[in-house]
Amino acid sequence: MSKVIEILMNEHKEIIKFVGSLRLMCLEFINNNKIDIEEFRKSVHFIRTYADERHHQKEEQLLFKSMVEHLGVRAENIVKYGMLIEHDLARYHVNSLDEALNKYETNPNDDNKLDILTHALSYCDLLIRHAYKEDNVVYPFGRKNLPQEELDRLDILAEEYEAKYK
Ligand SMILES: [Fe+2]
Ligand SMILES: [Fe+2]
Repeated sequence: MSKVIEILMNEHKEIIKFVGSLRLMCLEFINNNKIDIEEFRKSVHFIRTYADERHHQKEEQLLFKSMVEHLGVRAENIVKYGMLIEHDLARYHVNSLDEALNKYETNPNDDNKLDILTHALSYCDLLIRHAYKEDNVVYPFGRKNLPQEELDRLDILAEEYEAKYK
């Protein structure tokens, strides 16, 4: 197992755990009409700082960049027209969730409630499918086809990237 892929797969586990708790918060909102806005804001913060900045941007700057440079059209298709589009879609949902929370705070009506649930649950669904594809298709493709010295170089860069968070 290469270090960079091990780090990324461990981050998926954290993200999927987080998604489970966000779904429970949505369920509470649906069943009991109860929402803790601060908890939802913490979720927005986690998505932006951990799932996006620490995880998606590390994929983009290290592994995916390298795959596009070294592995030709197939990698380009899977990364540029698959994974990067889904990263942007995830950003769209978190920005829309943030906006919906602001609106609900000033006007807690059903319409604004629906927007919170739509974007929170769309984010959850997207991330579950996205992480699954990366774990089972994209990362194995990179690990199998990138030259060993390139994987070694990525391991070092990933450790450096992580150093910011220690
Ligand atoms: Fe990704
Ligand atoms: Fe990922």
